[in-house]
Amino acid sequence: MAAPESDSDATTEYLILTPDDWLLAREARLAALRDSPEFFLPAEPHESSWSAAKWRTSCRTGRWAVARLNGTVVGMARLTHEPDGPHIGWVWTDPRHRRKKIASELIGMLLDDVREHEVFVWVIHPNPDALKLYESLGFERTKEYQELGTAGRVEERLRLSDATSQR
Ligand SMILES: CC(C)(COP(=O)(O)OP(=O)(O)OC[C@H]1O[C@@H](n2cnc3c(N)ncnc32)[C@H](O)[C@@H]1OP(=O)(O)O)[C@@H](O)C(=O)NCCC(=O)NCCS
Repeated sequence: MAAPESDSDATTEYLILTPDDWLLAREARLAALRDSPEFFLPAEPHESSWSAAKWRTSCRTGRWAVARLNGTVVGMARLTHEPDGPHIGWVWTDPRHRRKKIASELIGMLLDDVREHEVFVWVIHPNPDALKLYESLGFERTKEYQELGTAGRVEERLRLSDATSQR
């Protein structure tokens, strides 16, 4: 089990997952997809069908940060290294625990691992809350859009420049 990294209050635990923590990764991602389907694109095949081995691989190929309160996942974020640079994604906070800096703390933990100058995130429109979150952390809108295959939806890329200075 991953060791808690830090606490933002007395009871919220923040964890960086190892492959042995894959059940927590699954709990977090499936909760996010259930709660906020409009803001996430499920993987293909859908995460609900992933095997333990696939979850373990996902914990190896991406850096997963998860917040837990009283044993229940209340937030998550993930960092992956894509050909065009590191990307934050899959950021989610349980609606009962929003505006407590959970997403900010999780993203900060992921940025600790970034050596590159720039970090990106894609935001499916419209999502004013997410735009405000990322802008509060120093990300800037790029007006770089891409269409998603589903129902005319569009996503915009945001960029954090000078990511290493966030530490
Ligand atoms: C967007 C989301 C992840 C924010 O999580 P959170 O834990 O509430 O965010 P934080 O508490 O760290 O917010 C930090 C700052 O971001 C801004 N912010 C975040 N949510 C906001 C909102 N609903 N309205 C206005 N500003 C907001 C504020 O500046 C906030 O600081 P403040 O509370 O001191 O004013 C959460 O609303 C969520 O899970 N939404 C659904 C899923 C989603 O959209 N994920 C992003 C996909 S790209």
